[in-house]
Amino acid sequence: MFLIQHPSPLSSLAYLFGCTGKRAAIVVDVHAGDEEAFLAMAREKDVEIRYVIDTHIHADHVSGGRRLAQLAGAHYALHESNAGAVPWDFMALRDGQVLEAGNVSVQVLHTPGHTDDSISLLVTDRSRCDEPWFLVTGHTLFVGAVGRPDLKGREREMAEKMYDSLFGTLLSLPDHLEILPGAQAGSVCGGGISGKPVSTLAFEKRYNKGLIRDRAAFVEAILETALALPQPEAMREIIAANIAAEIPA
Ligand SMILES: [Fe+2]
Repeated sequence: MFLIQHPSPLSSLAYLFGCTGKRAAIVVDVHAGDEEAFLAMAREKDVEIRYVIDTHIHADHVSGGRRLAQLAGAHYALHESNAGAVPWDFMALRDGQVLEAGNVSVQVLHTPGHTDDSISLLVTDRSRCDEPWFLVTGHTLFVGAVGRPDLKGREREMAEKMYDSLFGTLLSLPDHLEILPGAQAGSVCGGGISGKPVSTLAFEKRYNKGLIRDRAAFVEAILETALALPQPEAMREIIAANIAAEIPA
């Protein structure tokens, strides 16, 4: 398999990965304006982009996902909870669903907390083994921090959901997993994010200051961190563009 981590503006991290042998690839969390770059990377790898996924409806940047999917003839996929909330069709992903791109398979994990529709992607290269190799964590688990739960209101309820997604879902996965987050230091979607763009689950379990095992202490700490962060610039306009009937330019 191959994997490209693509740093985008606003400290975001997007991904292109897949199987060169069977010429199939998946894109995650592409920014508007980066679509042509992803098409060029796919051409250079000689793969077809099968799926373009957003790990959630973003509040900090305009997504290039719908446009890239249209240009590439790929499925545009989001968590199923967006059905009825957006005025366009998409491939609705459910918890546990598996997508395939050649020898690479991706299991969808619903990990609400940053937003209700947040997903993480558990990726396996079946040409190596049947165990997953890495986890694309969107804005749920960062290197050194966890996602903020307050952007769309109901922050205490969302903080509780984040606890369950982290401790109930992600931290029960194998320690050897590499963590590939949706943003690095400088993003306003979490506080205290490292500038190092990759980690392992074992290292984060030991040293991520946001992963506080006591539930009540976790909720208080994540709310205190989140409320000290600025809101993403032009957040309402960005969300409106990401769900508008018209694909963002
Ligand atoms: Fe986010």
